[in-house]
Amino acid sequence: MYIGVDYYPEQWPRERWETDLQLMKELGINVVRIAEFGWSIMEPEEGEFDFRLYDEAIELIHQYGFDIVLGTPTATPPAWLIEKYPEVLPVDDHGHVIGFGARRHYTVNSDVFQVLSKRIVKEMGKHYGNHPAVIGWQVDNEYGHEKSDRSYGEVDEKAFQNWLEKKYGDVQALNERWGTVFWSQTYTNWSQIPVPRKVYQEHNPSLLLDFDRFCADSYTKYNRLQVETLRQYVDERQFITHNFVYSGLAQDQKEIAKDLDFISFDNYPVWGGLADPISPAAIARQHDLCRGTKNGKGFWVMEELSGAQGWSQIGYLPRPGHLKLWTYQAMSRGAEAIVYFRWRAARFGTEQFCHGILDHDGKPRRKYDEVKEVIDSLRGFADDWIASDYSADVAFYHDPENEWAWQIQPQSDQFDYVKEFLRFYEPAHAMNVQGNIIRADEDLSKYKVVVVPIYFLTKTGFNDKLKKYVEDGGTVIFSYRTGVKDEDNVVTDKTLPGELADLCGIEVHEYESLRENKSSQVKGISGPLSGMEATVNVWCDYVEADTAEVLATYNDSWFQDKAAVTRNTYGKGTVYYVGCGLSPEMMNQLYTSVFTDTEVPFMESAENVEIVKRNCGEYDYLSVLNHDVEKGHDVSLPSGDWTDATTGDKYSKSLAIPRLGSVVLMKKK
Ligand code: GAL
Repeated sequence: MYIGVDYYPEQWPRERWETDLQLMKELGINVVRIAEFGWSIMEPEEGEFDFRLYDEAIELIHQYGFDIVLGTPTATPPAWLIEKYPEVLPVDDHGHVIGFGARRHYTVNSDVFQVLSKRIVKEMGKHYGNHPAVIGWQVDNEYGHEKSDRSYGEVDEKAFQNWLEKKYGDVQALNERWGTVFWSQTYTNWSQIPVPRKVYQEHNPSLLLDFDRFCADSYTKYNRLQVETLRQYVDERQFITHNFVYSGLAQDQKEIAKDLDFISFDNYPVWGGLADPISPAAIARQHDLCRGTKNGKGFWVMEELSGAQGWSQIGYLPRPGHLKLWTYQAMSRGAEAIVYFRWRAARFGTEQFCHGILDHDGKPRRKYDEVKEVIDSLRGFADDWIASDYSADVAFYHDPENEWAWQIQPQSDQFDYVKEFLRFYEPAHAMNVQGNIIRADEDLSKYKVVVVPIYFLTKTGFNDKLKKYVEDGGTVIFSYRTGVKDEDNVVTDKTLPGELADLCGIEVHEYESLRENKSSQVKGISGPLSGMEATVNVWCDYVEADTAEVLATYNDSWFQDKAAVTRNTYGKGTVYYVGCGLSPEMMNQLYTSVFTDTEVPFMESAENVEIVKRNCGEYDYLSVLNHDVEKGHDVSLPSGDWTDATTGDKYSKSLAIPRLGSVVLMKKK
């Protein structure tokens, strides 16, 4: 497998390069990513190319026996470019131009920027496309990150209008679908349609959603421009990837991924001023998103955090063991290669406090030793392990368009898309259920349960697919705010949950947004929730059960006759509706019952202990990952004789895992 570092030779004196490479050699890495921010070095003046610095670095890296991933440098357009073509700069929603001085200061909709990008990418491709050490390319760096996903300038507006014309053909059709009769917004010409810059009130939600779709499409096209350019000049053996982030950007990673050989991801469980890492489930969700982006294909972690991160703020210092734990977690969930960010902390520039394997003084210490331990620990089994299958019993539906619709109208100050998604993902993760994050186009029949959380913006095709899946015996879990909107981001005229009402066997006549400090109470009255009471927040759908059985009602003097959680039989299958932001305890109880009924395998483990299964023809693998920073735990193992894949130690029945411990066990089938 590939394991390596992100290296910035341009930031260090040449005299240091060999020391670095020697230290890398002793560390045991085999790949180095470079050059993704080196535009002004490779093209110091327009049209003048100078590859000497990277030529020299690449030759040396090659001599040390490492393979190389080259980044195209378009995330950092140089000063000469901005001086000459200021129209390349993005514009924020207040109409302010985002200036030169950081990175990602371009709009993908600028024709000039596209031409200039194509040229540098072409020159790099011509220059390095046959180099034996170069195994592949990372195009650009983290599309859309740092709020660069949406730009509101004139070029963007023109491109948006063209995009709309292509989509709707006739401006009257757009008027009807967006409902522009509201507030006298009827358009008579494409040129009147604005990008959603600041207004007194809020924009039309249909315009906002189409704007997000347009921004996403623009990035897909921009990525394609780079990929197609590279493909003309580089060897077939060289792969092309991009390092994604998944944080609600106006971006469709799955669409972009169609043009890539595989996707990459930057894994920062803790960043900047964060006081603590995000939860194990939140990290796992990101890996599952990565695996789902190219239909289950493995991915690279192109940046795996190796030290405390921050620009002007520094947060949590990863504890000894975190580095290995997060590496093993990523690999358990589909990462095929790990590249640590960064080799050494920079002494200058914005990222002075992005610590690396080495810190500013360049001396190998604790983190270096820890990376070495990780590499050594993987040596004997990693290739087979990463080639093994990850199979899933449960699917979690995620669609960026639904996420954008929520961003446009969160409806409660307590609503956060990821938090609410996790409300439905986390209990399954805690039970060590194997899950995939899927889109609407996927085959549902291979899953025992499909969880469709906060399905606000619906798609008729997917609704029909869900009905068929349940008719044939599948189990679906829906949540509050299901079925509210159609694809135009217009509210349905059907009684809620709209197109899904008969499937759920319920109607929702009234609902309530629970804002800060507001909550309600529910009580379980039948089935798995009997006798339980819980506090709920964020949202209450006051549900009228039609054919559905009521599992919980509101414990509230006004709405006690309304259902909070229901279960319906439809065809051969079962549909649950969770009408409110249920507490984790009740969610756990519900999931235990659902997974037992549907025969989804699950494994109990202490809180913060994550177990992931993989298998291949010969072996079952079990990763045991203890995210607990305070204490070790005993973990019950599935039957059979298990062997620690690194040490060869044998276990059966149970394993004591220390705090922040991570281990992969193997069992011959
Ligand atoms: C990533 C980015 C890197 C570096 C890193 C800092 O988002 O790709 O270039 O900025 O964060 O932690």
